[in-house]
Amino acid sequence: MDVVVVTGSAGLVGGEAVRALASRFDLVVGVDNGMRRQLFGPAGSVADNLADVERIPNYRHHRVDVRDGSALGTLFGEYGTDVRLVVHTAGQPSGVWAADRPVADLEVNAVGTMTVLEAVRRHSPSAVVVLTSTTKVYGDLSDSLPLVETDTRWEIDPAHPYHEHGVDESVRLGGNRTFSAVSKLAADLAAQSYAGLLGLRVGVFRCGSVTGARQAGVEQSGFLSHLVRSAVRGATFPVIGHGGKQVRDVLDARDLVEMFWHFYLDPRPGEVYHAGGGRERSTSILELIARYEYLTGQEVRFEYVPEHRFADVRCWITDTRKFRRDYPGWRPAHDLGDVLRSVHEHWVEVDPIGLSGSPVTS
Ligand SMILES: NC(=O)c1ccc[n+]([C@@H]2O[C@H](COP(=O)([O-])OP(=O)(O)OC[C@H]3O[C@@H](n4cnc5c(N)ncnc54)[C@H](O)[C@@H]3O)[C@@H](O)[C@H]2O)c1
Repeated sequence: MDVVVVTGSAGLVGGEAVRALASRFDLVVGVDNGMRRQLFGPAGSVADNLADVERIPNYRHHRVDVRDGSALGTLFGEYGTDVRLVVHTAGQPSGVWAADRPVADLEVNAVGTMTVLEAVRRHSPSAVVVLTSTTKVYGDLSDSLPLVETDTRWEIDPAHPYHEHGVDESVRLGGNRTFSAVSKLAADLAAQSYAGLLGLRVGVFRCGSVTGARQAGVEQSGFLSHLVRSAVRGATFPVIGHGGKQVRDVLDARDLVEMFWHFYLDPRPGEVYHAGGGRERSTSILELIARYEYLTGQEVRFEYVPEHRFADVRCWITDTRKFRRDYPGWRPAHDLGDVLRSVHEHWVEVDPIGLSGSPVTS
């Protein structure tokens, strides 16, 4: 039997991994303890997404905490060497949340990841593992690149080599970073050592801004989803810092999962890859608001918050050419317009007035 284990299976990336991989494996084993609601309140709940993946006939859910080595040992012990692929997405994604609870954040992101890798090593050592790291491991380093300010965005100076394709994997670690970036970096480095030292077939994906219809976007995590969700329910969206000109490149979670699939088919253990939408899918917040209003006719009410968040960079664009060189079959299938439309349609259908009246920012 071919088994794929997806941790964080009720979350954005995990849920899309379950949907995409269910037809490619005999069994999808999901691990998620619903912690996103505990992190961000009712608006962060992933219960709807979990209910949706639970309708998939070959999906089996385990409400397990990835910090619980004993429960993970039992789970991986049950499936053993039938496990072909592990997609590890369970994590604490917010720098804002981590600022008040750095130890709890480290436990979920770093210890949780190592606990998953230990269970794989003991019970399913031939499995391929993909780890969802983050480009935030670089901290605010990209703010030290030469930047230019236009009417709508911050941009890497056109004379700089990173301008055309974005930032590649050779960039050094440095600058300020949030505690959640520290814990993700610890997990990222540990995964590389599990590959280099212990022979696990792990690949590390440093993700930029990943989004999708099923993201439970809140103020602390998932800006595009939160923007659309706020607009649909007529709530005011806070544009935090940098005059709304901060630039991110957006990747649909379904395109990220296809990267994992390509890696699974031809794994390169220990490799680190950037995963993002690239220049074509880059946008500032101001540009995103304008594009969303144009596409949907839905007004976005927003207010400026002058102070930017700690280590929140003015411009990040991801260079994915290393991955595309190693896996030429991969190209993102969804452009920014697709992403905006699908997120809009989701929130119009699911949450026209908010989650039982609870604030999106809870
Ligand atoms: N979405 C992005 O823009 C982005 C960018 C860079 C990195 N990442 C990383 O990718 C991964 C997936 O991101 P996402 O957007 O799907 O996040 P998400 O919050 O939507 O999903 C994460 C899931 O993990 C679960 N979870 C959290 N702690 C857990 C624990 N201790 N045990 C079991 N389950 C737990 C949550 O309930 C949630 O369903 C995360 O590790 C995140 O840090 C995401």
